[in-house]
Amino acid sequence: MLSIKFKNNRLFYLDQTELPVKEVWRECKAASDGYIAIKQLRVRGAPLIGVFAGYVIFIAAKSFPCQRKLFLKHFFATIQHIRSSRPTAVNLFWALERIEKAVSQCFSGDGRYIRQIILKEAINIHHEDINLCAHMARYGVSLIKNGDNILTHCNTGFLATSGVGTALAVIYKAHKQRKHIHVYVDETRPLLQGARLTAWELVKKRVPCTLICDNMAASLMWRGLIDKVFVGADRIAANGDAANKIGTYNVAVIAYYHRIPFYVVAPFSTFDLTLSSGSRIPIEQRSGEELLRLFSKTAIAPRNVAVYNPAFDVTPASLISAIVSDKGIVHPPYKQNIQKLLRK
Ligand code: MRU
Repeated sequence: MLSIKFKNNRLFYLDQTELPVKEVWRECKAASDGYIAIKQLRVRGAPLIGVFAGYVIFIAAKSFPCQRKLFLKHFFATIQHIRSSRPTAVNLFWALERIEKAVSQCFSGDGRYIRQIILKEAINIHHEDINLCAHMARYGVSLIKNGDNILTHCNTGFLATSGVGTALAVIYKAHKQRKHIHVYVDETRPLLQGARLTAWELVKKRVPCTLICDNMAASLMWRGLIDKVFVGADRIAANGDAANKIGTYNVAVIAYYHRIPFYVVAPFSTFDLTLSSGSRIPIEQRSGEELLRLFSKTAIAPRNVAVYNPAFDVTPASLISAIVSDKGIVHPPYKQNIQKLLRK
């Protein structure tokens, strides 16, 4: 299962807005295609956005003038453009900064040469992401017992990364180890990443799962049907507060009330130690159309009603039982332990 393909210097992506109805692969031929793909969530999920963005810069650079100064002018403008596509997932900025750093360490050479530097770094980011996913799965699986019923929110699998995933990677690993698990999938309003993407992945991978509406989770917990919650993150602040898909905070609150462990799974590239707490994480506000119509089609609310549509919320560290990263499992107190872990 792949979310993007980079072949013969061409970049292709699986258009996630078409799932689960159709598997449509599109080619990203220019920076504008890459920008639209990220903005419209055709390519989504924090780690995947970062990996994809690296390749988008390479694709865009194919049409930059070769003269060094002009090349660099176009390069920095394109970095800025792609940076502005979505604000919350820090992996996007992290990947673009890596590409920028690689280029700024290249003191000579024309555009053709710098383009190869960009490509090398984009490929490094891609290969690293695949490995990070495998490491998170390896650490996180120790938290899953035979017979566990697990709740998850949004999509954190193959479609959200260029590897096996973050939270779903842990679940896949447990399933592979023949642990008998059952996954409850929050549909994840408003764009249904749970129903359209996570359920699609789990069914394909034959992992036992049940789809529920977001507002059913508390009732399942009350009935004793959920043992653990596993979610991903788009940005984790230095104190362990974690931004993730809107509705994650609700799940964390009800899990806490029912004394159910709530785990966040994210690679080091999702941590933002420049932010002291989650209140500083920029939250993407999306178009009200996403609530007014189902997939830009059927109206489900009066056209003129006011709409509030933040794409993410922040779960306070106090509600998080542990954070699984590619370097190990972090327990509270997060402020000290995150620093220690990331220095490893
Ligand atoms: O708006 P999306 O679909 O990009 O949001 C994605 C999520 O919130 C995921 O849970 C998050 O990126 C972690 S996934 C690896």
